[in-house]
Amino acid sequence: MSSNEFRVPDVARDRLPALLCAMPKAELHMHIEGSLEPELIFSLAQRNGLDLPYASVEELRRAYAFADLQSFLDIYYAGAAVLIHEQDFYDMALAYLARAATENVTHAELFFDPQTHTARGVAMQTVVNGLHRACVDAQRQLGMTASLIMCFVRHLPEKDAFETLEQAMPFLDKIIGVGLDSGEVGNPPENFARVFARCRELGLHLVAHAGEEGPPAYIWSALDVLKVERIDHGVQAAKDSSLMQRLVKDKMPLTVCPLSNLKLCVFPSLAAHNLKTLLDAGIVATVNSDDPAYFGGYLNENFTQTFAATGLTSQHAYTLARNSFEASFVDAAAKHGYVDRLNDYFETFS
Ligand code: HPA
Ligand code: ZN
Repeated sequence: MSSNEFRVPDVARDRLPALLCAMPKAELHMHIEGSLEPELIFSLAQRNGLDLPYASVEELRRAYAFADLQSFLDIYYAGAAVLIHEQDFYDMALAYLARAATENVTHAELFFDPQTHTARGVAMQTVVNGLHRACVDAQRQLGMTASLIMCFVRHLPEKDAFETLEQAMPFLDKIIGVGLDSGEVGNPPENFARVFARCRELGLHLVAHAGEEGPPAYIWSALDVLKVERIDHGVQAAKDSSLMQRLVKDKMPLTVCPLSNLKLCVFPSLAAHNLKTLLDAGIVATVNSDDPAYFGGYLNENFTQTFAATGLTSQHAYTLARNSFEASFVDAAAKHGYVDRLNDYFETFS
């Protein structure tokens, strides 16, 4: 059944926030290092005996005013330097997952950036084992599922991505796929054609950030050269009508991150965000939080603020939640289970 066949009851605008917060949903675009709240950065720095170039939590939070993606990445990579031990990675991931569970996220696929850590001498196994143990415990303790997607940073050469893949080989049973992130403009997807082809041979799922700040051409090459299964961000697709048609025809999911786009000045305001345009064109868009500790909101804030600003309806809410499960990398049986729960939720919401 397509989402259009599910009759969604009309919900008054003042009841939409409650609907959005309580509906079950998946989060598919979330960098786990972007969940490091200033308080956690300070407590990990203290635990690990590290000095921070900020005097207080408040001073660090005040630095979170970004002009573009690069100005954010500089602070984001510096913050991630407090992660040293396996327990640090575990604590960070479990804190995010516990928060997500309270927001009725029933499944999360988490990005991580191993090169940020291995470049500082932290072993791949420290990173993966800590994050993976949190994903396993989330199922037992929080009743949600979670899995890991390893990102290659595109500001470094493909050779480094191959080395990272080599280091990850013993842990591929703990990683469901690979992605491509970091500074986009000037670092097009096709620079990573060979390493993505190798990951494809290894049976890994493939995604890539494209069309966040970069042009539609980067989305085309993520599709045609890297052969990705989802596009992360992808909002610049609206500038290219034949690309829009291609995305619709292929049911290619876009993992859209509205508050991230606002904070990184991709759109001047949430009211100017093109999520409604994408959805109404038939694109399989989803809503995600990207780096919630830095962008002023976790998943439910992304939903409620975007709906308030853009006039999206309860039908859009259903479509977005449904898309999040359909676009996830869980198996068909699990997907059915999540969608059944979603349908039950919408049938009984009043
Ligand atoms: N874009 C690119 N790289 C990133 C992002 C993002 O939004 N967040 C963390 N790394
Ligand atoms: Zn991202």
